[in-house]
Amino acid sequence: MAAEEYSQQLHFHEERSEELRKSKKITRWAELRWGKSEHSRAADLVHPTIGFANRVIDAFVSEIPPSGKNTIHRHNPEAIVHILDGAGYSIIDGERIGWKKGDTLFIPPMSWHQHFNSSKTKSTTYLAVTCEPLFTRMGTFIMEELKKKKTR
Ligand SMILES: [Fe+2]
Repeated sequence: MAAEEYSQQLHFHEERSEELRKSKKITRWAELRWGKSEHSRAADLVHPTIGFANRVIDAFVSEIPPSGKNTIHRHNPEAIVHILDGAGYSIIDGERIGWKKGDTLFIPPMSWHQHFNSSKTKSTTYLAVTCEPLFTRMGTFIMEELKKKKTR
């Protein structure tokens, strides 16, 4: 090991502690920056791209409009999805699972999944927590969309 690398390793914790001390600590709901995708919209709650020093887990909210759905997709970080409002169902690797406000889903790594809002009048909103930042830092993050498959 080179001397410079060894020195960096010795001081890593101090530098990381400083980075964590300076990290953003809160996201206000009113300040969310919503990004729109083809079928739904989402906003990061805690992510390195919006000023947080998190390296392992992240969180975002997603909103699906009435009768809407998001794309069929899969990713290697596992995910936890907590329904904040509304009702609908998800198809996870072919299994249909109904849900409503207060329910929590586990999305296994690399499972094809899609979320549907059952209401014709009300949006549904969910909180998602994943370990994407860890995978991204390791250079092993995989995300794929299946766009051509007919879902309804
Ligand atoms: Fe997902």
